[in-house]
Order: sequence, then structure tokens, then C-alpha cells
Amino acid sequence: MTKGLIFDLDGVIVDTAKYHYLAWKKLANTLGFEFTKEQNELFKGVSRKRCLEILLEIGNREATQKEFDTWMLEKNVDYLEYIENMDASEILPDVPKVLQYLKDNNIPIALGSASKNAQPILEKVGLLHYFDAIVDGNHVTKAKPDPEVFLLAAKQLKVEASDCVVFEDAVAGVEAANAANMISIGIGDENVLSEAQFNFKDFTEISLNFIQKLIEK
Ligand code: BG6
Ligand code: MG
Repeated sequence: MTKGLIFDLDGVIVDTAKYHYLAWKKLANTLGFEFTKEQNELFKGVSRKRCLEILLEIGNREATQKEFDTWMLEKNVDYLEYIENMDASEILPDVPKVLQYLKDNNIPIALGSASKNAQPILEKVGLLHYFDAIVDGNHVTKAKPDPEVFLLAAKQLKVEASDCVVFEDAVAGVEAANAANMISIGIGDENVLSEAQFNFKDFTEISLNFIQKLIEK
């Protein structure tokens, strides 16, 4: 039975949360309020639009549609500046080892990310060639925790949803994987990602033996 493995990007493959944070903080400060790292946790896995809505709630600010669109754009321009010089050194530990193992075993690999910047980031860090399908924020109408992004990825890999495994660092992402009837693997704090079927701090904790069992199941 063919398995498909689906990876979230931000926080699973690369640590871009810090750049998202800096860009949102800059916008918050421009609008006259603070935005903390703790508050940034709420933004993980969440679409850009929803992030701005939450940011405005935090700052108790209203926005006209025009302001909203301008601020989303400004945040992204700043974010793009932060990620401009990203390279392979920013890939999270042992991610390439797992991707290579899957490739060696002819297991189809997809990206399932909320980000609209996913493809250029994979290019910058030199991992794009591993992916048989890329589904990101440009391809979905419903954001995580809706399962759309992962169901689309399964479809593109031509693998049944129930034969897919998802690696996620966000609560919304784990919920999306579970809603898609896929095996969910939480990467990060197991107390936060308690709804995942398996939990690991990062990929250094995942043995190739475990991956082998997953793809054999
Ligand atoms: C997710 C991040 O992967 O992508 C979120 O975890 C981010 O923090 C979302 O808001 C959208 O990203 P982008 O690059 O389209 O603004
Ligand atoms: Mg993520």
C-alpha cells in the first residue's frame, strides 16, 4: 500500500517563526502597540489574513478594508526581506536525512503549508527537489484547521488520505491532519500538540526505524 508523507514548512522544515514574528512586531510597533513572542505562538499555522485579524484584536485596533490590505502587504514585504538571505543552514536538524530516506524508498513527499511564500523558501534552502507536490496558501480556500490543504496534497500524490502521514508543529495543523483522517505527528511541545498521534521534540528524535514502520503500516 502506497504511503504519502506530508510536511508542514514553517516550524517543521525551517524555523521561520522568528522572521514572521519580527515582521508582525514591526507592524504592531508602527501601529503603536507591543507584540510579544508569547503572542506570536498564536500565529503558528495560521493564515496571514487571520494573523492580522488576531494582531488587530491584540492591539485593540480597527481597520478599514484598505488599511487591512495595506498592512498585510507591508508585513509580507518585511517578511520577504528577512527571508531573502535564507540558506541551507536554516534547515532544522535531521530534516534532510528523513527526506533523503523517503526518496531512497520511493515514498511520495508533499508540502502542506499555509504560507504563500513556501516555494521560494524551499528553493532558497535547496530542498525543493525532494517534493513531488507542493500545496500551500496559494492553492487553498480554507485555512488550517480545515483539512483542505492536506486532502489536496494527498490527491496530488495520488495517495488515499488515510495512507498519509503529516508532520506538523501547529495545533491548527494537527487538527487539520486529524480531520483529514491522516496520521498526525506533532513536532514540538507535546503538551501543546497533545492531539497528535505521535509526538517528537524535533527530527533528531525520530529514528529511521520509526519512519520505516510508518511507511510499512
Ligand atoms: C504558516 C505560519 O506556515 O504560514 C504562519 O506558521 C503564517 O505563521 C502562515 O502566518 C502564512 O504565511 P505567509 O508566508 O503566507 O504569510
Ligand atoms: Mg508550521
